[in-house]
Amino acid sequence: MPEQLAIDGGKPTREKMLLFGAPYFGDEEIAEVVDTIKSGWVSTGPKTKKFEDEFAAYVGAKYAIALNSCTAGLHLSMVVLGVGPGDEVIVPPLTFGATANVVEHVGAKPVFADIDPTTLCIDPQQIEKAITPRTKVIVPVHYGGMPCAMDEIRAIADAHRLQVVEDAAHAIGAKYKGRTIGTLSPLTNFSFYANKNLSTAEGGMVTTDDAALEEKLRVYHLHGLSRDAWKRYHTKEFSMSEVVVPGYKYNMTDLQASLGLHQLRKQEQFIARREELAAFYDEAFSEFDGVVRTAPRPHDGQSRHVLHLYVLLLDLARLKASRNQFISALLAENIGASMHFWPLHMHPYYREKYGYQPDDFPVARRVGESVLSLPLTPQMSERDAQDVVDAVRKVVEAYGR
Ligand SMILES: Cc1ncc(COP(=O)(O)O)c(C=O)c1O
Repeated sequence: MPEQLAIDGGKPTREKMLLFGAPYFGDEEIAEVVDTIKSGWVSTGPKTKKFEDEFAAYVGAKYAIALNSCTAGLHLSMVVLGVGPGDEVIVPPLTFGATANVVEHVGAKPVFADIDPTTLCIDPQQIEKAITPRTKVIVPVHYGGMPCAMDEIRAIADAHRLQVVEDAAHAIGAKYKGRTIGTLSPLTNFSFYANKNLSTAEGGMVTTDDAALEEKLRVYHLHGLSRDAWKRYHTKEFSMSEVVVPGYKYNMTDLQASLGLHQLRKQEQFIARREELAAFYDEAFSEFDGVVRTAPRPHDGQSRHVLHLYVLLLDLARLKASRNQFISALLAENIGASMHFWPLHMHPYYREKYGYQPDDFPVARRVGESVLSLPLTPQMSERDAQDVVDAVRKVVEAYGR
């Protein structure tokens, strides 16, 4: 007899909830925040500048502009590339709403291109099929920290004279064939939301090597003013700042940058710990006879998946439960499982506006119905990881056919 699940009244695998994506701040972050508060300058200022400089150096980009979210960066990317009504932007369906929503914000049309079942990232062949004379931009999403097939995407973009804007919300520190994500396309956007590998509670960064794009991003990210606040207030000579375009309010604060500076310096350590925990999971789940399967990662020795998500795919034909029931059962066991993502073409807004059917993007649909994410954060212990494996085993045994 399988053990009774907590969701059915049994004893949970652990007493305390193991949170999904809990941020990991240390004394350094706390001291820096206090220092910032005491300095009297809490919004965009010297710490934001320092964070931008260190971030640009970490990824190897010429410029980094700190923002209040990755969504802001994706939106600004559309704005500075002049994307607007009548244009189409190719995005994968297996992503967060923001990737496509920003295309709607500028009045353009997001066009989905299905994902590759082996990488769970956008499939270059499907990009080719989605291109029309209106296509302007391709937005690859490095799903879960897995680098997309950037050589193929770059070749397609060059052949059709398209721009590439990367959604690297999950991918700080990721590498594609030895090159760090953040240096491969004109614009790359990172997220520092609470549960991301680098957290500033809320925040984002856009990187570019293009001086003209950097200039535009700087102006648009803060009201369209000709000079930002730090420069305005820290000069002996008064000079007026003027609105040169109707910009946005997308700047990062020094309070956020205080967290970011130390999170950035710890990234390599964090990634190494994520790799250890993922190796533990890999070994454990290899013994589940395919009922649960670990999403693939690159093995070319030159690319690096940064394990923002540790993703399992369920073989639903061998389970009596749906993916949602499976996650509910894990939550009852006090394992903070989550799901990334319900494909965008199946969300009401996109489904109704563009008339999509679930099987228009069959790979995304299949993955979207069977995918789940397990807790994976650098502060987790082996005991925590073992609890996750034990809970998954318990749920598989209870729901197995
Ligand atoms: C793939 C992807 N893109 C964009 C975003 C938006 O990031 P932010 O919350 O920083 O705006 C997220 C957030 O989770 C995401 O997962």
